Order: sequence, then structure tokens, then C-alpha cells
Amino acid sequence: MTDANWDGLPLAGTPTILGGVALVGSGSAVPCQRVTNDQLGQRVETTDEWIRSRTGIGSRCVIGSDETLTSLSKQAAEAALKMSGWSADSLDLIVLATSTPDDLFGSAAQVQAKIGAKQAAAFDLTAACSGFLFAVITASQFLRTGAMRRALVIGADQLSRWVDWDDRRSCVLFGDGAGAVALEATSAENNGLLGFQMKSDGSRGDCLNLPQFQDHLPLVASSTYQKGGFETIQMNGQEVYKFAVREVPAILQTLLSATNTTPDGLDWLLLHQANQRILDAVADRFDIPKNKVLSNLANYGNTSAATIPLMLDEAVRDGRIQPGQLIASSGFGAGLSWGAALIRWQGPA
Ligand code: UT7
Repeated sequence: MTDANWDGLPLAGTPTILGGVALVGSGSAVPCQRVTNDQLGQRVETTDEWIRSRTGIGSRCVIGSDETLTSLSKQAAEAALKMSGWSADSLDLIVLATSTPDDLFGSAAQVQAKIGAKQAAAFDLTAACSGFLFAVITASQFLRTGAMRRALVIGADQLSRWVDWDDRRSCVLFGDGAGAVALEATSAENNGLLGFQMKSDGSRGDCLNLPQFQDHLPLVASSTYQKGGFETIQMNGQEVYKFAVREVPAILQTLLSATNTTPDGLDWLLLHQANQRILDAVADRFDIPKNKVLSNLANYGNTSAATIPLMLDEAVRDGRIQPGQLIASSGFGAGLSWGAALIRWQGPA
């Protein structure tokens, strides 16, 4: 198991932290097709009542024939740029958190080209449902050291391509979407990423994975090759549930302690939108009232790396999240991986 943390003070042997990072804009996009629980009940043996009561999910959006992960990411990125008042060619960096790129070599460069961010380096980062927070933390390192000035972090996934739509135990959970945030280098006093925690435990990875085919074909005499291709999402729902309700409160507690923050000082709890029961259990652990717990999974299901920026963007645009407010966020999922960040939302200048 690996462990890394940062509590605002440089650790011995790490580069000096020069400045802060401000979250100044957000954007999001979901596919046009919406599939309700009742519609899913026409395909697998399930009911709206079962799905709502066990997960809180009412419907999800699924990528259609004229949409791609790149096109959704482009829409989310452009909305975040617009809110920030930035031109695309002012970007230095694009990090696309996704486990489901359109191209196995990565989709970030396609997004970079489509939005016209000619100066930006772009790469994908894979950490499943923790990917967005891991990407925000990664991009922030370039900004805080002064190496770069402006970054766009996108969380996007199209799990609908990889779900077994005949497996009622998993297919009811997932949906597709994309969300983005604009990050800018700023002074240490204006820093908006007040602390973070990241964890991985590959020894428990088989609770939730998407393995490759084991398909060995003859190559030349006495050699074989493994044909490319993936199976469908494999999940032990109960194990993942137990992992989430144990590890998310623990990592949030570590984050709060490291940043001298009390739960009642938080304006919002913004968790990976996997299951309403998980959101409720984590909030209960900290006595955080329901009106401070952001939730939109009823409309989108679990969109993996997209859930946190999708929810953030919705709450910024409808005025719930205001400039200067404090948000505790946690992502968790396949890997297994999990992370947390304490964020002060700044919004556009
Ligand atoms: O990003 C992380 C992604 N993964 C997760 O967040 C998953 C976390 N886990 C969960 O959210 C929950 O474990 C689930 C929602 C997946 C399942 O809820 P549960 O309360 O743990 O149900 P269960 O697996 O214990 O199944 C209870 C029953 C079973 O029937 P029997 O064996 O008791 O007769 C299942 O076969 O519910 C049955 N079932 C369903 N019934 C109707 C499972 N899926 C369905 C379904 N509709 N879609």
C-alpha cells in the first residue's frame, strides 16, 4: 500500500512550495440519451423501487452514436474555459482523468486539439473513480512550483461501453459524463487546495476491475501473442460498499486533522457519487447535515471520474457553491484507490 500526504508544509526532501492554486471555473456535459430505471427493468430483472432504495439512482445518461468521450470532454472543457474567461491558447496543461478513453493511447491530446489549446501539454491519468481528485492534485504540483500557470483538469468516463448490460448487479449503477475545472497558479495566501490525501491498495483490486481477455494466439513458431481487448466490469458490490464506508470516513478524518478543520467548518461535502447510502453513511459519521451533502446521482448514476466535477459544476452554476466556501471532497473506487481534498472554491475573477 502506498501513502502520500501534504498538510500545507513542505516535507523534508521535497521541492519548496512556491505558491497556491485557485479553482476559478467549472464545466460539465452529459450525453443526450437518458435511460430510466423502468426502462432498464425491460432489459434485466429489476425495478425502479429496488434501484432507488438501494442506490438512490433514478436514471442515467448513456453515450449515443454521435457522441464520444472526447466530444463530452470538449464540451465540459469549453464550458470551464468560458466561466473562467480564459482563451484555450492560454492553457499550459490538460489532464484528462479517465479509465475509458476513446483511444487506448489516451484521449487528452484529442481534447487539446479540439478546443484549440495549442500551447498545452495534455495527458490522460487513470485512477478510476478517484481519477478526478488525483488529477487535480497532480496538476496542482505544476502550478504550485511555478512550472505552469493555467491547467484544465477533466474527469470523464463512458462506462456504458464496458458494463455488462445483462448483469443487473452492476448495470443499474453506471452512467456516462464529463466535468472539468480550471486551475490557476496563485499566491500561497490565496491557495484553494488546502490539503490532500491519496491512497492505493492493489491487493484488493479484484473487488472492482475490468480485466483484459486472456486470449493467447500463435504468433510465430514457439511464440504466442495476447490479443487486445477487455472483458466487462467485474464488481463485488458488497465488498466495494464496505471498503467505501470504512475508508472514506478514515481518509476524510486524516484530511481534516492535517488541515486543522472541523466538520462544522465545512460548507459542503462533495463525495464521489456512487450510492446515496454511502453518501449518507459518511455524512452521518461526521454529523454533517443533509443540506450540506451534495448529491445528483439520482439523475446521473455513477459516472466514475466525472461524478465530482459534474456535481461541483451543477452546484456552482445554480449558486449553491459560493466563492470562498470550503468543500471536503473524496473519491474512491477501482484500484482500489481513494483520495480526499480540502478545497476552497474561488470562482472566476
Ligand atoms: O465507484 C464505485 C463503484 N461501485 C460501487 O459503488 C458499488 C458499491 N456497492 C453497492 O452500491 C451495493 O452493494 C449494490 C447497490 C451494488 C448492491 O446493493 P446490496 O444492498 O449490497 O445488494 P446485494 O448485492 O446484497 O443483493 C441483494 C439482493 C440479491 O438477491 P438475493 O440473493 O438476496 O435473492 C441480489 O441478487 O438483491 C438482488 N439484486 C437485485 N435485485 C433487483 C442485485 N441487483 C439487483 C437489481 N435489481 N438491480
